Amino acid sequence: HVLSGAPRDLEGRHVVVSAGGTREPLDPVRYLGNRSSGRQGLALAEVAVARGARVTLVAANVERPTPAGVRRIDVGTTEELRAAVLDAVGSDPAGAADAVVMAAAPADFRPTSTEGSKIKKTGDGTTPTIELVENPDILVELVRTRGGGGGTVVVGFAAETGDANGSVLDHARRKLQRKGCDLLVVNDVSGDRVFGRDETEAVVLDADGGSVPVPPGSKTALAHAVWEAVVRRAGWAPT
Ligand code: CTP
Ligand code: CA
Repeated sequence: HVLSGAPRDLEGRHVVVSAGGTREPLDPVRYLGNRSSGRQGLALAEVAVARGARVTLVAANVERPTPAGVRRIDVGTTEELRAAVLDAVGSDPAGAADAVVMAAAPADFRPTSTEGSKIKKTGDGTTPTIELVENPDILVELVRTRGGGGGTVVVGFAAETGDANGSVLDHARRKLQRKGCDLLVVNDVSGDRVFGRDETEAVVLDADGGSVPVPPGSKTALAHAVWEAVVRRAGWAPT
């Protein structure tokens, strides 16, 4: 219902969406990961198809079906996500992607090394220490390369909580500036409000200082709001 009659304002565009959460292996059976389900990324991909785009979805551990008409690439780790997203954005023979939306939750750190066999308990009560290194920031790299000098619109997502250092929006505005992306979609997750839920409430911040609040609604509704903001930011005329 929310898809039929959508404006075809992404006609002729190639967009890349990342979804899900990356997992960093500790040993053959264990990983460091997060609880992202991938549903917001799937909604972004589905809505982009409805608005006329050619869509590449890079899915990190998403255990849900692919929306019709979407090209999907499955990945596991942040490094795999990075390689697949940069490739999808930059290596298209038809030119760089027109927009990329990083809805995925990449693990910020990975174990310095992965054990080749299962980590065993010592039996004497001593515990292992896991040393971590920071993963590359894909969003920052996308801003730096813009699909090889093209005008790729770069969109980030952030789940924030307010704290002693500022409100949700203070943190989000700082993150937008730090990352240098065009748009940042901010979810207020104070008190477990978003994870695994159907309903979302968000604000779309624009690097030019503007912000558009998105009323509580479905992930599909938020996806429409995100693509509207992308079209506005890029100045694409409706066809
Ligand atoms: N992101 C990314 N690569 C990373 C980490 C995050 O591309 N290694 C992207 C996410 O996909 C998201 C945006 O950056 O679109 C913001 O992610 P977030 O986790 O909020 O930002 P971080 O810089 O990791 O900051 P924090 O310390 O708050 O986790
Ligand atoms: Ca992070």
